[in-house]
Amino acid sequence: AEIDLQEVHDFLIGIAKKAGEMITSARPSTALSGSKMNSADLVTETDRAVEKMVSTSLKERYPDFAFMGEESHTPDMPLTSAPTFIVDPIDGTTNFVHAHPYVSISLGLALARRPTIGVVFNPFTNTLYSAIRGRGAFLSDATHDRARLPLRDPPEPFRNGLAECLVAVEWGSERSGNDFEVKAATFRTLCAAREEGGAMVHSLRSLGSAALNLCGVAAGGLDVYWEGGCWAWDVCAGWVVVEEAGGIVVDANEGGWSPRVDGRRYLAVRKGEGQRGVVEEVWKCVQGRLE
Ligand code: IPD
Repeated sequence: AEIDLQEVHDFLIGIAKKAGEMITSARPSTALSGSKMNSADLVTETDRAVEKMVSTSLKERYPDFAFMGEESHTPDMPLTSAPTFIVDPIDGTTNFVHAHPYVSISLGLALARRPTIGVVFNPFTNTLYSAIRGRGAFLSDATHDRARLPLRDPPEPFRNGLAECLVAVEWGSERSGNDFEVKAATFRTLCAAREEGGAMVHSLRSLGSAALNLCGVAAGGLDVYWEGGCWAWDVCAGWVVVEEAGGIVVDANEGGWSPRVDGRRYLAVRKGEGQRGVVEEVWKCVQGRLE
């Protein structure tokens, strides 16, 4: 049977709100949090409880769909072409643990591995982003009632390419090896002064939630987001929001115009004339290749 995308989208919004209550009423402390791969890769009881609630609700309502969630994922569960919910119960766990309010729940649906529905909700600021492929991307918060994204339409063209952009990057939790070196050198190159009067990027931002970074690119408050190392559950939902807002998502390494949702390297650029040129300029700043 045909999947009723609107119905799934509305159901996901209900779950996001319920998860939001669990997240805002929890009192995480570093004592309650554990770590997964290393001491900077945090997980709390709330991450696990929210994922349990989400997976149970989704399995009950959509028993035939597959489920991929950050806390229950194991390496022997690759993404298949079956309809798959791709879920991060708390994107921005480090912020959550530190009571820094840039935190979201990220609920995506992929069809044939293609991000198709995205719901990203920050329960601390009551900000909801959502999109269905082909039907636009929307923002609801204290000052917007289902505003279509991007917020500035038509958006500013990229008059000066990458220069003058506000660029989101993330360190991630892996702090050694090839990718760490590539990231550190790339951040330096991105924000360095351009030679002979060339304009610089306005600044770099490292805000701590991949899903919200993507939604920021969709809305237009961020021009670019570049990261290596995050996962399908960090990006699936935000990806739909970006594309439905006229932004593009490509691979963080040069030449990757058709990235995979589980490819772990992403570059998003907001809507605007000159968008593809900005992608190429960012690629030129990448110092080596992310693995
Ligand atoms: C992380 C956040 C962070 C990004 C990491 C992600 P989590 O997700 O999105 O901003 O840099 O790569 O893994 O662990 O908080 O769900």
